[in-house]
Parts: sequence; structure tokens; C-alpha cells
Amino acid sequence: MEEAVRKLLDLASKGIAESRDDRRALEQLKVRLLGRKGELAALFKNLGKVSEADRPLVGKILNDAKVSLEKMLAEALEESREQSIRRRKRFDVTVPGRMPLRGRLHPITQTALEISRIFNWLGFETVEGPEVELDYYNFEALNMPKDHPARDMQDTFYVSEDVVLRTHTSPLQVRVMEKRRPPIRVIAPGRTYRCDSDVTHTPMFHQVEGLMVGEDISFGDLKGILTIFVHQMFGPDVDLRFRPSFFPFTEPSAEVDIRCVMCRGGGCRVCSQTGWLEILGSGMVDPEVFKMVGYDPETVTGFAFGMGIERIAMLKFGIDDLRLFFENDLRFLMQF
Ligand code: FA5
Ligand code: MG
Repeated sequence: MEEAVRKLLDLASKGIAESRDDRRALEQLKVRLLGRKGELAALFKNLGKVSEADRPLVGKILNDAKVSLEKMLAEALEESREQSIRRRKRFDVTVPGRMPLRGRLHPITQTALEISRIFNWLGFETVEGPEVELDYYNFEALNMPKDHPARDMQDTFYVSEDVVLRTHTSPLQVRVMEKRRPPIRVIAPGRTYRCDSDVTHTPMFHQVEGLMVGEDISFGDLKGILTIFVHQMFGPDVDLRFRPSFFPFTEPSAEVDIRCVMCRGGGCRVCSQTGWLEILGSGMVDPEVFKMVGYDPETVTGFAFGMGIERIAMLKFGIDDLRLFFENDLRFLMQF
């Protein structure tokens, strides 16, 4: 029996050597040696004829042979597979190439462009201003003198005593009014910064400021323009509400919420169980701000608003964690 097993192993090594990287031949050899009707199986059948005393030993020899044969053949097959891959790499010019990834606009950029498009259509001109801003434009000229408690509403990154990373896009109101006379209709998209971080707040985010100033501009105009905007952006069926609020640079002031698109108003972690998500702050420009830029509050009126672009994008695309926008995971970005 030992003799037969040795022969079988010899046969295997010879067979493997002969059919080196001929996968088909190796497969056939495997069937011939290890198959259900193969040579090893035949030896196992003879085990019955071996005397009971010798049977454990012979059984072990056969089992060992089985393990060795399996290992030899598996290695040979693997080797032949690698060989063929190597060969293909060297020669096969017909293997399809990898598709290059095509770039696309970031969802925040797409949303900002869409917002701009809607307001441009309503006659607003797009303007821009600095992200590193003077304290004067970010706070003072907006009726928030130094030590004013309203400054606490926005946790500020200070660059120096008089310079901040702008906490909102509202400094553009002042910059534009300093340079122009009414009538004014502008929007100003851009980056803003606050020391703030959770599912609906990030330290860097984007806002769009809007400003409309002229004669007889009323709160009704504010409501009308913002309602048209929301319906253009989210469709005519989306609920929105104006909620009384406070900003030092507007009076009266209102915040606008839209029905949470994640839970459709039922309450979830994105809307803090309220069913609504705040998208913007707004109000009638405060007479104090007009005075700072040399306008006569008796003859001009106007409204302003500032909206969070990420919030709009979350609602538009149904995204429940704002931080996804800034992780730059391609699996996320490729979906837009
Ligand atoms: C302001 O920033 C005011 N400047 C808005 C304004 C402009 C009022 C003009 C009146 C007239 P507020 O702090 O609420 O307001 O922010 C406005 C919007 O920015 C919020 O509704 C929200 O959508 C977004 N936002 C605020 N903080 C963050 C943040 N950390 N991450 C992402 N979005 C934010
Ligand atoms: Mg707010």
C-alpha cells in the first residue's frame, strides 16, 4: 500500500511538472487523482481488504497522501493562475482600461449657483466680499458695538482685536450701501465661520446675503420675495413659516423655517424633533444701519436676509448630516 501511495505522489509531481501552466491539464490531473472515481479513491476502497490491525496505519498513510496531493495541486493551480495574469499584463492590450473619474461641482457649489440663479431672475445682482473681515463691518456697522451682548449669538474666530473671520455675510450689506445709492438689489454668497459643530452646524459654512433697498420697500416685499424663492427652490407645495426673531441690524426681524424634509414634519434628530428647519434670518434694515452708511432712514427702507447654503442643500438633497459635505468622500460626492 505504501508503495502504491508513493507511486501516486510521483505521478502527481510528474503530472504537475509536465502541465506547469496548463490550467486545463492541471484540472484534469486533479480529477484523475482526487476525483470521486480517481486513483486515490480506488486505494481508499481497498482499505476494506487490509487487516484490522494494519488498518489505522494504512488509513493514516492514505489521509496524509490526500492532504499532500490537495496541497500540491492547489499550489500548482494558483501558480498557473498568477502566471496567466502576469502574461496577460504583459501582452493583452485588449483588457479594458480604467475609466478616469470625471470631476463635477460640489453639491454646495451647485446649491449656491441655483440660489444665485433664482435671485438673479428676480433682479438681484451677485456680489462678493472678504472672508477675513474688519470687526467694523462684521459687527459695529451692523449695530453691534463692542461688548454688545448680541455678539454672543455668533461664536467668533478673532484674527486680531479688529479683524475677524466673518461670522455671516451681512457685512456685505454695509459694504454695498457705502458704495452705492438706492435702489439696490444684491445677493452675496460666500464662506462664513463660527466656533460651532454638530449635525446641523460646522465651523465653516456658507451663507447667501440678500439686500433690497429703495423707496417703499415693505415687509410684504420681504415675505413675497422669500416665498417665491422657497417655492422655486423646493417646489410649490413646500410649507414655510415666518417666525418672529431678533437681529440687532433689522427691525422687525423674522426667521424662516421650512418643513423638515427628512421626517416631513414628524420630528427627527435633524430638526431637533420640531418638524421644522431654520434656513434663514431676515428683517427690515434697522434705521441705525442706514445712518451708519449715510442713508436717510426717513426716505429709504429695505429688507435683508441671510440664509445657510448647507441647510438648503441638506433639504434639497435629503441629507441628514451636514458634516458629510466637508469630508470629501468620493462615494458621497459622486452622487451629485
Ligand atoms: C445670521 O447670520 C444673520 N446675519 C442673518 C440675517 C441677515 C438676518 C440679514 C437679518 C438680515 P443666523 O445666525 O441665524 O443669522 O444664521 C443664518 C443662517 O445660517 C441660519 O438660518 C442657518 O441656516 C445658517 N447657519 C448658522 N450657523 C451655521 C453653522 N454653524 N453651520 C451651518 N449653517 C449655519
Ligand atoms: Mg438663527
